Amino acid sequence: MVPLLLLLSALPSALAAPAPPASAAAPYVGSTQSAVFPPPGATITEYASLFPNASVVGFLGPTPTGAEAQAIATAPVAALRFDTYPLVAPSNQYTTSGPAFDLMHHWGNLGPAYSVGGAFGLPNTSPQVPAGCELEQVHLLFRHGARYPTSGSQPSEFAALLHSAATERNSRLSFSGPLEFLSTWTYKLGAEILTPFGRKQCLDLGVAFRVKYGELLNGFTELPVFRTTSEDRMQKTLLNFAVGFFGAPEYLTAYHEEIIIESGGYNNTLAPSNACPDSGNAVGGNIGGWTSGNWTEIYLKETTARLQQYVTGVQLTPSVVYGMQQMCAYETVALGYSSFCELFTEEEWRGFEYSIGEYHLSFWYGNGPGNPTAAAMGIGYVQELVARLTKTLPTKFDTNMNGTLDSSTITFPLNQPIYADATHDTVIASIITALNFTTLAANGPLPIDHIPVYQTYHVNEIAPFSSNLVAQVLSCPASAAAHDSKTESYIRFLLNDGAVPLTGIAHCETPNEDGLCLFDNFVKGMQERIAEVNYAYDCYASYSAPTPDNIIDGQV
Ligand SMILES: *[C@@H]1O[C@H](CO)[C@@H](O)[C@H](O)[C@H]1NC(C)=O
Ligand SMILES: *[C@@H]1O[C@H](CO)[C@@H](O)[C@H](O)[C@H]1NC(C)=O
Ligand SMILES: *[C@@H]1O[C@H](CO)[C@@H](O)[C@H](O)[C@H]1NC(C)=O
Ligand SMILES: *[C@@H]1O[C@H](CO)[C@@H](O)[C@H](O)[C@H]1NC(C)=O
Ligand SMILES: *[C@@H]1O[C@H](CO)[C@@H](O)[C@H](O)[C@H]1NC(C)=O
Repeated sequence: MVPLLLLLSALPSALAAPAPPASAAAPYVGSTQSAVFPPPGATITEYASLFPNASVVGFLGPTPTGAEAQAIATAPVAALRFDTYPLVAPSNQYTTSGPAFDLMHHWGNLGPAYSVGGAFGLPNTSPQVPAGCELEQVHLLFRHGARYPTSGSQPSEFAALLHSAATERNSRLSFSGPLEFLSTWTYKLGAEILTPFGRKQCLDLGVAFRVKYGELLNGFTELPVFRTTSEDRMQKTLLNFAVGFFGAPEYLTAYHEEIIIESGGYNNTLAPSNACPDSGNAVGGNIGGWTSGNWTEIYLKETTARLQQYVTGVQLTPSVVYGMQQMCAYETVALGYSSFCELFTEEEWRGFEYSIGEYHLSFWYGNGPGNPTAAAMGIGYVQELVARLTKTLPTKFDTNMNGTLDSSTITFPLNQPIYADATHDTVIASIITALNFTTLAANGPLPIDHIPVYQTYHVNEIAPFSSNLVAQVLSCPASAAAHDSKTESYIRFLLNDGAVPLTGIAHCETPNEDGLCLFDNFVKGMQERIAEVNYAYDCYASYSAPTPDNIIDGQV
């Protein structure tokens, strides 16, 4: 262990004096590494006869099944915590006097989901079924697990920048002090697909969902239909969820996997941007990007100068340093640990959390309440939810629903006690805008040049990896009177275990500490919301985005 005195005396001089002797970077610095598994040519069928499966081998022993669990109603505290095992992030360098600073909770959409408790303003309830109520139905909408960076994003650009500096003729690239580790660093991340930890998140969610809600399986008369989209990480998200929920190999025969095409021009409520041209053009698509450079320049200006003293041969900019912050999150969820995390202070992480590239500002202005196409993009899922709640097949297809799939009860069943749909972070942001969860937008529009003191819109609570929005349909006593045995149906929404107040929705205005709204009133409110959103105009019309953007309801 380094004596404290030595640390204290070393720190200030390291900051002030010229950087200590720099170490030259190896020529492979920043090069991209990739793995190939299974080994080429090796196939599962090659020795199949030597590896008979369990039913051929036999001797299963006794297999009584027990009853389905329903921890959501029976456990004293049903808020099963999301676990980040085996990821490690530094925690010892954040020393402010406020509440403990958990780094992984400040990575916006790049951090793992966790239980947010009373974050949305209802601290006196829990995911557990409220006393006296019975669970009737549950609707799960969840984001894929942790993935590598999307194609061509900042981390790979950072690696390419270093690699080109390392390999150019007469390279002067060298690192010292806290950046010393870069002398031998290579880029080990892939792109787009789930990381091993991401697979575990989906599996854990499946296990937790079975423990909490398994009892509802008793109400199925057909195999469940669970939905996802066609991208690799989306398919595998649902598969890993199913392994957790049903177990292996039962998952192979326990449900129908509905894979909705996610590609240009296709209608897909779980990937709606492809069917909403204005979301990707100058009208709606660029608002987040337009504000983007500014905040990064502001909060990373001094950081960039500080880190530049430890590197020669390459010019750092706020945008490059921003990529290094992203690298911390991405390497952690992919490789388990990242040396980039230790480079930044708590304040710099708070700046990152608020930043735009993919985070708060980008979500607010790009996919949330501040975007003119957000409500339109989310409305198709709301229509599907209303169809499921009212057990009525949709007949009008003028938004982003796929009318071929959604007009048949085989591909769009209406009698499932459990629904499960996998989607993306941006889509969850659009859907909660379409659902009119206005309490999350209470402090909008978000300033682009500073972090507001009072803030209600946090992407780490809305759309982290494996984020999940759960609608519980409950039957509860119509009144508190003990002798009154009349019951009514209610609905409430838990976003990462936090109950969301529904008071911004027409007919749900009466505050309820458990977040409950009368079922019929909610349905009426959503029908009005559907009528309020002009899909054709918001997604297809030619209009200009307001400057500054003061939109707070996700509509033009
Ligand atoms: C097990 O193997 C046998 C023989 O190859 C095959 O007929 C059967 O479908 C397999 N069962 C499972 C559950 O894979
Ligand atoms: C709807 O889904 C079906 C089945 O995948 C597909 O063939 C069809 O092209 C989709 N339609 C649209 C408009 O996306
Ligand atoms: C962001 O910075 C650019 C370049 O300095 C500037 O032109 C633009 O107006 C700024 N955007 C906002 C919203 O202030
Ligand atoms: C796809 O969406 C468009 C635009 O809303 C709609 O006109 C069309 O009917 C939809 N197609 C299907 C198959 O649902
Ligand atoms: C949705 O919220 C807006 C405020 O952002 C409100 O004006 C509108 O009435 C709400 N609509 C419904 C149907 O709840």
